[in-house]
Amino acid sequence: MDKIDAASDLILHSKRVVVFTGAGISTESGVSDFRSPGGIWDRFDPDEFTYQKFLSSSASREKYWEFSKSLWPAIVNAEPNRGHYAIAELYQMGKLDCVITQNIDSLHQKSGVPEETIIELHGTLKWVICLECGRRYPREQIQARLELGERVPRCDTCGGITKPATVAFGQPMPERETGEAEARSAACDLFLVAGSSLVVYPAAQMPLIAKDNGAKLIIVNLTPTPHDSYADIVIYEKVGEALPQIIERVKAKLKG
Ligand code: APR
Repeated sequence: MDKIDAASDLILHSKRVVVFTGAGISTESGVSDFRSPGGIWDRFDPDEFTYQKFLSSSASREKYWEFSKSLWPAIVNAEPNRGHYAIAELYQMGKLDCVITQNIDSLHQKSGVPEETIIELHGTLKWVICLECGRRYPREQIQARLELGERVPRCDTCGGITKPATVAFGQPMPERETGEAEARSAACDLFLVAGSSLVVYPAAQMPLIAKDNGAKLIIVNLTPTPHDSYADIVIYEKVGEALPQIIERVKAKLKG
């Protein structure tokens, strides 16, 4: 039996599938990942974009906003790809417990998975938040201000520091989302990783929590990850190729 077939069998025999995604699922939508050759951390120095740096000076915030401004066009114009739609089909089948994503591109929402079924561990680029008064701005609004020449957008209400609603290195993780992701990982019977290098914690702990609580583990990733030895099935293929094949096989088997 090939791995696609074996993976489809695991899904068939599961009731609560958690899908865990990283930037690798969005590369086929034209959104760079972080650690592939040519990825974001190949082109920018992550140490420049920590939370502490961001808070430390207006100059570092200006650098951060330049970085964020340059990435926005690829994100705002991105469309879900076959990998995202395969996960949406899992939801349609009633098999998907939730999607835990490290991604900030809202492509799971765009593909039709309901907001309440998605846990965004690293926040979202959709909003910009004032760190002082909490006022929320749609990212498009701030992008327009940046394109008009504003370099470090401040809150219109209180003059406070604003920041995209994403989680930067060194920034506290969102408590509710992290707790919810740990609980769902511990309670699922199948944990499917799609497009993540599994090197950033606490996110990368989720597949181990699932495995330690008796779930089966499938990893679909172009390159090896540190957790491959724990997995029941590892598929070194493009998510946009492998996931649709797996789902097609599940549907064929459901038809009998
Ligand atoms: N199909 C399958 N795998 C892919 C594809 C693809 N089309 N494209 C890239 N990959 C793989 C890469 O080989 C890599 O192992 O996806 C993985 C992406 O890993 P990262 O770039 O490290 O992205 P991610 O795992 O999401 O990073 C986690 O790091 O910088 C922080 O906050 C950021 O959320 C991000 C976190």
